[in-house]
Amino acid sequence: MNHRPTARAGSVEIIKVERLSKQYGSGANSLRALSDISLSVSEGQFVTVVGPSGCGKSTLLLILAGLVSPSSGDVWIDGAAVTGPLPEKISVMFQEAWLLPWKTAVENVEFPLMLRGAPFAIRRPRALSLLQLVGLEGFANRYPGELSGGMKQRVAIARSLVQEPRVLLMDEPFAALDEQTRTRMGNELLQVWEKFGRTVVFVTHGLTEAIYLADFVFVMSARPGRILERFHVELPRPRTIEMIGNEAFGRLRNRIWHLIGGA
Ligand SMILES: Nc1ncnc2c1ncn2[C@@H]1O[C@H](COP(=O)(O)OP(=O)(O)OP(=O)(O)O)[C@@H](O)[C@H]1O
Ligand SMILES: [Mg+2]
Repeated sequence: MNHRPTARAGSVEIIKVERLSKQYGSGANSLRALSDISLSVSEGQFVTVVGPSGCGKSTLLLILAGLVSPSSGDVWIDGAAVTGPLPEKISVMFQEAWLLPWKTAVENVEFPLMLRGAPFAIRRPRALSLLQLVGLEGFANRYPGELSGGMKQRVAIARSLVQEPRVLLMDEPFAALDEQTRTRMGNELLQVWEKFGRTVVFVTHGLTEAIYLADFVFVMSARPGRILERFHVELPRPRTIEMIGNEAFGRLRNRIWHLIGGA
């Protein structure tokens, strides 16, 4: 469970989206959320998605997760068309951690395995090792109400990895955290990703965060959302905070800022 696929350089296509459009509702009340989105993500990559508020980022993620159906177009994950949720292949994480308050941290992490009927002797050690991975080994028996916002998000990260999904979809998972915690969580997520080697699609409003984390940044237009451009972030890994001050980092940030329509 801890090996990055050898396809890091990007040869095996794990996510493929072709000519995807989404319209909510019909008639006078209809709203075009996404228009003609095509994209491809290779296995093991960390990609981020940025765009103006309301441009359809969450919609795109929900469609990738099989939780919302597109109006037209196709989505394939790992070679299979997505027609509904695939919890064993795809994990989704949202801004709120959505932990079960009456269960401890370790019980929350193992919950998806419990639903699948995995015996205690299998699920408990796996949940504990994931809690260790996210730096919460001392908090396994604490309830969510006893944890800080950042700790809850770490529990949620551990839970989203427990089924060893091929793809992790994250919708502004750190948006509710203060800036320092958010930066720390970004670094921790990168460390987990380095060890785990899964494909991550991460939606964010933060351009710095988007560049810092990603191999590729997808930039979307205002609604109806289209992909305006895909930027390759050529900074070496592991990423360090100092890189944010680099000229190349600043240039890329400016380009994306102007593309999105910043002043
Ligand atoms: N279930 C729904 N029914 C009708 N319209 C919806 C639904 N979900 C989203 N929309 C609309 O689709 C558009 C795109 O919404 P979405 O939440 O995907 O945007 P977003 O880019 O994630 O926005 P934000 O950056 O604010 O999170 C918005 O105009 C929104 O009002
Ligand atoms: Mg959203």
